[in-house]
Amino acid sequence: MKKKSVIVFASTHHNNTRKVVEAVAQECDIELVDATKTHTKDLSEYELIGFASGIFYTKFSEQVLKFARENLVANKKVFFIATAGNPIDINFRSIADIAKEKNCEEVGRFQCKGFDTYGPFKLVGGIQKGHPTEEELKAVVDFYKKIAAADKD
Ligand SMILES: Cc1cc2nc3c(=O)[nH]c(=O)nc-3n(C[C@H](O)[C@H](O)[C@H](O)COP(=O)(O)O)c2cc1C
Repeated sequence: MKKKSVIVFASTHHNNTRKVVEAVAQECDIELVDATKTHTKDLSEYELIGFASGIFYTKFSEQVLKFARENLVANKKVFFIATAGNPIDINFRSIADIAKEKNCEEVGRFQCKGFDTYGPFKLVGGIQKGHPTEEELKAVVDFYKKIAAADKD
C-alpha cells in the first residue's frame, strides 16, 4: 500500500512557511494541513509526519505545538521545517520535545531564513527580506525527497 505523508503547518507572519511547504507539496505527493484552521485530525494512517512553522520567541507557533500535543500519535516518523529571522537550532526544541515525549523518531529538520518585521525590525524595513529565496525553496524540496526516499526502504 502507498505510504502517506503530511505536513501540519502554520504561517501567520508573512506566509514564509506557507511558501516553503507549498514548494514541497507542488513537487511531492504530500498532504498539507493548516493548523490555524484544522485542529483535530487522525494521524494514525500517515507514515511520515512533518511539522512546519515560523519561529515566535524561539518556539514553533502555538497552533502547531497544540496540534502536535493533541493529535500526534506515538512511534511515528517525524520531521520539522522552520522559517526564522534568526535560524538557529534551538528553534526546533519546542516541537522536538513534544515528538520525543510521544516516542516518535525524528528523521530530519530543515530551517531557512524568513522575512521578519517583528518589533524593532519593522523600523528598518524588516530583516531577511526576499527569504525564502528560490534556492531555499529548492533546498527544502531536496530535503523532503531525501527523507521520503529513505523511508521507502
Ligand atoms: C511576534 C514575533 C516573534 C518572532 N520571534 C522570533 C524569534 O524568536 N526568532 C526568530 O528567529 N524569528 C522570530 N520571528 C520571525 C519569524 O519567525 C519569521 O519571520 C518567520 O519566517 C515567520 O514565518 P511565517 O511568515 O510563516 O509566519 C518572530 C516574528 C514575530 C512576528
